[in-house]
Amino acid sequence: EPYISPAAIEAVRAAEWVTVFSGAGMSAESGIPTFRDAQTGLWERFDPAQLATPEAWSGDPALVWGWYQWRARLVRDTEPNAGHRALTALAADRSVLVVTQNVDDLHERAGNEVVAHLHGSLFAPRCSHCETPYRGVDADPDNAVEQVRVEPPTCPICLSPVRPGVVWFGEALPGDAWTRAEQAIAAAQVVIVVGTSGIVYPAASLPERAAGAGIPVIEVNPVASALDDVVAHRIAAPAGVGLPALVRAVAERP
Ligand code: APR
Ligand code: ZN
Repeated sequence: EPYISPAAIEAVRAAEWVTVFSGAGMSAESGIPTFRDAQTGLWERFDPAQLATPEAWSGDPALVWGWYQWRARLVRDTEPNAGHRALTALAADRSVLVVTQNVDDLHERAGNEVVAHLHGSLFAPRCSHCETPYRGVDADPDNAVEQVRVEPPTCPICLSPVRPGVVWFGEALPGDAWTRAEQAIAAAQVVIVVGTSGIVYPAASLPERAAGAGIPVIEVNPVASALDDVVAHRIAAPAGVGLPALVRAVAERP
């Protein structure tokens, strides 16, 4: 069992509202690669400038569409892990609100209450011009083909290419998601940061804002992140070990 400070346990036990701020490490034990872990990180294997920017999209829509369909298929072929399930258990007798940087749907599939997808979703493709959500079967990841370049579908309304529903570097975050995330952070008596390197803004400013407001921040990560100076308690463990341990400790009568 990883060490968890009594103060961290008590903070969660006493909280009516717990806000979780998750990153790619939350899904690592499900088999979804993170971005910056050595060797396995997506940005160790792929160039974000070629795949995750508006310029990449306008330069080669088929390369970008194909890559995101591949990522969506990876998620479709995997399951939530013990960390996601622990958050659902924690929500049995308190409100657990999830603000995630992740574009997978593993929190939802585990029954977590997701209030904000700060960086969008792999499962919400939309028209690149008129923004109409696209739900055609040719965008269904189950039908994703194992090809590097796949022509994106065409919007039935305005005939523009359909784009991935994710936020690319340099793009603004969805306004409604940002507002809900701010509200979830403001309402929390404790914030649990899970599996993020904490270096991408504005998302990373949310745990900093919580700490600045005197809200205890607990981090679950095998290694310290860039948020370490705002973290009151770190559980040095993977999400699939640290979160179940925290939930067990909170459930034990004091
Ligand atoms: N459990 C918990 N944390 C883990 C695990 C695990 N099993 N495995 C790795 N980690 C931690 C790593 O130590 C690291 O701190 O997860 C973090 C992953 O960091 P990143 O790969 O940078 O992912 P993230 O912080 O979510 O990236 C933020 O960057 O590329 C953009 O939009 C993308 O949302 C993403 C954003
Ligand atoms: Zn359109």
